[in-house]
Amino acid sequence: FLETAVKLTGDDFPWFISRLAQSIGPIFRLRITPFADVTVVNDASVARAILNDPSSLKPRKLYKRIDKVVEGKRVQYLTTKEGEMWTHTKKSISHAFAHQRVKNMKLVCFEKLEEWICNNIDSKPGKSFDVFEEMQRLSLRVICKAVFEYDMTDEEVDTFVTENGTYLFEVASKQRMHPWRKWCKSFLPSVRRAHQASENTALFARRVLASYREKVRFGVESREDTLIKLLENSGAFETEVEKIAEITGLISGGYHTTGHAIAWILLELAKNPKIVENYRDEIKGMPNAHDWANSDCIQRIVREGLRMYPVIPHVFREVDRNIHTKSTGMSTNKTSPHFIIPKGSIIVVQPFALLRSSNYYNSPDTFDPSRWINPSKEAIDAFMPFALGRRTCIGQRLAYAELYTVVAKL
Ligand code: HEM
Repeated sequence: FLETAVKLTGDDFPWFISRLAQSIGPIFRLRITPFADVTVVNDASVARAILNDPSSLKPRKLYKRIDKVVEGKRVQYLTTKEGEMWTHTKKSISHAFAHQRVKNMKLVCFEKLEEWICNNIDSKPGKSFDVFEEMQRLSLRVICKAVFEYDMTDEEVDTFVTENGTYLFEVASKQRMHPWRKWCKSFLPSVRRAHQASENTALFARRVLASYREKVRFGVESREDTLIKLLENSGAFETEVEKIAEITGLISGGYHTTGHAIAWILLELAKNPKIVENYRDEIKGMPNAHDWANSDCIQRIVREGLRMYPVIPHVFREVDRNIHTKSTGMSTNKTSPHFIIPKGSIIVVQPFALLRSSNYYNSPDTFDPSRWINPSKEAIDAFMPFALGRRTCIGQRLAYAELYTVVAKL
């Protein structure tokens, strides 16, 4: 376990887990400390069964690390809640991401993308930019407008990206490697700074809420059930602090995931001009970018991008029953045994390992959107970049709307 601990906290993380899966089989137990272990599940059918099982829970002891800090208190939000608290919140806001709302999400994506093109390409011809930075910023503007009816200023975008990045880097990266840091707020300036950063994102959320209330006062709120409207009126949030944590949680869960996914796809397209040429020919006959975004070929490109770069690498669950696994015989040395994952185990499913596995995809490290023309059942079943089941990504319709729109147009 000492060796594992070193690898889990080193630069090689998370790739070494993927290599283990290739050498010892898709399901194995990883001993992290003398007292704790996780079961790595990179077999698509077992992963599906666990994620789709309503009794599988998010282990609070892992997710509480990313609770928001608002007014000095740790506050749970949809991503980190479990049990009744989660059900209540989910019920009250999920309608904001319903199928009927996709059209409006696409319109917002187009509007924000046009603005971005005008400010960054048309007015600065030939100037290079960091595609990861810029796509995150664009996604942030899209989410704020589509979900919270709020137009962000440049300054707000800069501040949110910096502050959210500072907080997440501390809690999800530094404290993963050095868990003792969480007790050091009073004497480690960088930990104090991270807490302040979380408070600063909360300040922005307060402004979003205040702006919405101002609109309601003047009778100019949206007629659609936007998330901010549901959040304000559902009664599911007892305190202002809970609303604030939910707003920051949704923004931070949505913008860098979508922004990074778009950036990876654009990079792959830049590296594969032949693919771009073929796809341009395919969409040439379509009158405008709205139609391109609905085309099969753009959807294949996006699917392939999410396959190669599923931006959330791990999904953890605690299983509430014994899980019987069958020998898949898929590991290189064919040693994967029949065994039972006991009730109470913490399991980790790794979309990035499943989606880069040659058990499900030929030449998995090659960007090849054509693999999605008549894909095999195995390829479809292993595709889970948004996870599955009751805790699947709530924002995936918005993410797809943005991915299709931005990739097609750019
Ligand atoms: C390409 C973009 C995205 C990817 C790949 C992605 C992926 C995921 C995954 C894998 C989960 C499950 C995490 C877990 O169980 O630990 C998740 C949950 C979640 N996502 Fe996304 N996401 C994306 C975009 C978004 C957007 C745009 C939003 C919101 C505007 C969003 C909000 C959330 C929330 C709130 C949850 C927690 C849901 C719950 O626990 O009930 N995501 N996402």
